[in-house]
Amino acid sequence: MLTSRSSLDFIPDELPYYDPSMTRKVALITGGNSGIGFYTVLHLYLHGFVVYIAGRSKSKVCGAIEKIKTEALRRRSNVIEGDLKTRFLGELHFLELDLLNLANVEKSTVVFKSLNEPVIDLMILNAGIGAIPYALTNDGFEIQFQTNFISNFLFTQRLLPLMNKEQGRIIYVSSIAHHLEIFKFSRDWTFNYKPNIIFTWLRYAMSKTSGIQYMKLLSMKHPELQCYSVHPGLVMNTNFFGYWTRIPFIGIFFWFFFQLFGWFFGCSNEEGSYATLRCALSNEEFVNGSYFVSGGKLASSSKVSSDLNAATNTWIWTTKELEKKGFTDLE
Ligand SMILES: NC(=O)c1ccc[n+]([C@@H]2O[C@H](COP(=O)([O-])OP(=O)(O)OC[C@H]3O[C@@H](n4cnc5c(N)ncnc54)[C@H](OP(=O)(O)O)[C@@H]3O)[C@@H](O)[C@H]2O)c1
Repeated sequence: MLTSRSSLDFIPDELPYYDPSMTRKVALITGGNSGIGFYTVLHLYLHGFVVYIAGRSKSKVCGAIEKIKTEALRRRSNVIEGDLKTRFLGELHFLELDLLNLANVEKSTVVFKSLNEPVIDLMILNAGIGAIPYALTNDGFEIQFQTNFISNFLFTQRLLPLMNKEQGRIIYVSSIAHHLEIFKFSRDWTFNYKPNIIFTWLRYAMSKTSGIQYMKLLSMKHPELQCYSVHPGLVMNTNFFGYWTRIPFIGIFFWFFFQLFGWFFGCSNEEGSYATLRCALSNEEFVNGSYFVSGGKLASSSKVSSDLNAATNTWIWTTKELEKKGFTDLE
């Protein structure tokens, strides 16, 4: 199941390019300021997309935008002149979004609607956290479950009416760790047990399975959209493992372990964006609701994530829980 360095064979440069002055392709990505999301945005920008980066820190997102613009120009300086005639840079914008706060998620969608972009061509639900201790958000959900799934669900449901009805795509960045939900967990379980190093992964698995289930059901409810989920690869140099590497004294050992692990089984931050980019840009025909892994390879997701009854239960559970918090009309 693991993807080795040498088996990454997908090249984003082969994907279509757009001229934003002729074809305005609008992409909205959560968590595009660091790690895998940073390179996803870089490639979309290089392919002519107008990208809205939804993040909780304006300074971090704007800092990333500057770096992406600089890197894009550097890369373009290496492109031969003939190719440059068909390659155009897009636009990069900041949208405020804090997934830890449902009211803020709702507000973010209202702000986006007020921008008068007629359609969203591409939505990428990339933001996520993992492997952290148990905590509840102010909204009362387990912190990973809200960040990785519930808030992304609310964000997407609210913006669905804006999705391009003919070619719109939605991509959920899941994880190979979703396989750890080996049987159907109740969405009421919060796994608030010790040791954290084990139970944190069950909490993470549940959130990432829910995301895949969401994409599968969405692809059936809205066949006019293409909905996919991806495992980006084992990407050890993003901020994802920061909780462990920042632990005083022993953090260095975790860092060393992650580097070693990444060397054998992992891929770079940029390679981590390839699965998403293939789903986002490729003109190949994929079965709607499919799951892709590192390097953009088609794969099978877990039995639980493919079980439509379980997926429906997750959907109903989520809408009911959100309704209790005052977020109605989510169908
Ligand atoms: N790294 C891996 O090996 C791996 C493997 C499988 C799946 N994934 C998934 O890949 C995705 C990207 O992770 P990454 O490795 O690139 O990690 P990362 O560098 O930590 O990026 C995570 C992104 O999510 C954003 N985010 C986190 N909490 C947020 C919140 N409350 N509101 C808004 N944005 C928030 C972060 O913003 P801030 O900068 O503001 O925190 C950041 O932009 C995640 O969904 C992760 O679960 C990663």
